[in-house]
Amino acid sequence: MKIAIIGTGHVGLVTGACFAQKGHKVICVDNNHGKIKSLQKLIMPFYEPRLEQMVRRNYKASRLIFSTDIKQAVNFAEIVFIAVGTPLGPGGGADLSQIRRVAKEIAHHLNHRYKIIVEKSTVPVGTAEEIERIIKLYAPENASFDIVSNPEFLQEGSAIETTLRPDRIVLGVKTKRADNIIRLLFASFNSKILVTDINSAELIKHAANSFLAMKISYINSLANICEKTGADIKSVAYGIGLDKRINPHFLNAGIGYGGFCLPKDISAFIHISDKLGYDFQILKAVRDVNNLQREFVVRKIKKSLRNNLKNRHIGIWGLSFKPDTDDIRESPSIYIIQKLLQEQAYIKSYDPYAMKEAQKVLPNIHYCRDPYETAYKTDCLFIATEWDIFKNISLPRLKAIMRQPIIIDGRNIFEPEKMKKLGFVYHGIGREEPQISQIK
Ligand code: UGA
Repeated sequence: MKIAIIGTGHVGLVTGACFAQKGHKVICVDNNHGKIKSLQKLIMPFYEPRLEQMVRRNYKASRLIFSTDIKQAVNFAEIVFIAVGTPLGPGGGADLSQIRRVAKEIAHHLNHRYKIIVEKSTVPVGTAEEIERIIKLYAPENASFDIVSNPEFLQEGSAIETTLRPDRIVLGVKTKRADNIIRLLFASFNSKILVTDINSAELIKHAANSFLAMKISYINSLANICEKTGADIKSVAYGIGLDKRINPHFLNAGIGYGGFCLPKDISAFIHISDKLGYDFQILKAVRDVNNLQREFVVRKIKKSLRNNLKNRHIGIWGLSFKPDTDDIRESPSIYIIQKLLQEQAYIKSYDPYAMKEAQKVLPNIHYCRDPYETAYKTDCLFIATEWDIFKNISLPRLKAIMRQPIIIDGRNIFEPEKMKKLGFVYHGIGREEPQISQIK
């Protein structure tokens, strides 16, 4: 099939590459000329495992092209995906200005040749109806089209895998014609296809991300209870995860969720619920718990250095919001570093991919060549992202080079018993020994 993808962010570019990989002809469009020029030279705008090879292969096979010309793309395609950003707006809701602009532009280039316009961007329920209204307003009278909602569930760091083999494909459709064509497009993905009405499809996306965030805030709350009782969060998470109704995924306690999706989607879902007249209390608590978790971690680091960070040397392992990405948007690591800098700590950091991005927001910290240089002569080491390179470190060497062997492990990558035996002062999340005074 002939496909146009508007927007070459994480969702648009990965989706475009994956459709091309499936043998479709894909044109990816963006109004950022610099980005399109780079993509034409096969320079990726972000790091994502396997993406560059996939783009390269399909570009060379002429199945994937990049353009700034939306008219060319709409004329060419049978199916047009809207995959532009829906960042957080000023009031906490989703900023839909890019969606509206693109809908208007697509409308101008429609004609009697039937097309499917797919809403791929994450949007609040009711947005497809608005897109349809906009298109009808600006399209010529003979325009023939249907709107479909196809929320994406890709995870950064494993975006190719989670796009090609998602747990499910959700398609919100209104007409039989669109249903038949869009099912055909996804038939080769070998995943369960769920076809619903459009509003349900839109809601599934916000509901899924919110549920994942809820699991994380729940396990982080439990971790705090563990610290007060001497229970171990890893055992507790394993114990509850064995129940099939709960399942073991997304039960890793840590420093709170970050990234471009979960924080903004939770906020947008709360916002649209308020607008609909429903006070979504659980979600508000999920967001508040997540914000508090970062503060707990800052307090933990401070406490390990006797509440005085002035001129103390702190090493930070990891800047991205999770491993296998260079994405630092809403990364808890960045937030925590900013807090430590306010207390006049001296910060050194290493991240395998995210240092270039981090330099833009944290120009005044020292960036290191590797994890050891980061830990060298530090008073405390904080582990913010669970990259494999950190898990495979030589612990005796690490102990030998630190000024004080204090580790705050925000991702629980090491075992407290082992670390203690090696002579570290080690604090994980939800894995503390209880402080006698805390037990009432
Ligand atoms: C998330 C969803 O998982 C995807 O399904 C969705 O498609 C995507 O948002 C989106 O809306 O585009 P992503 O933002 O890539 O994907 O990141 P996640 O893997 O969900 O991780 C989010 C945050 O939660 C990270 O900071 C991670 O470290 C944290 N996390 C995750 C935990 O603290 N504990 C866990 O057990 C799992």
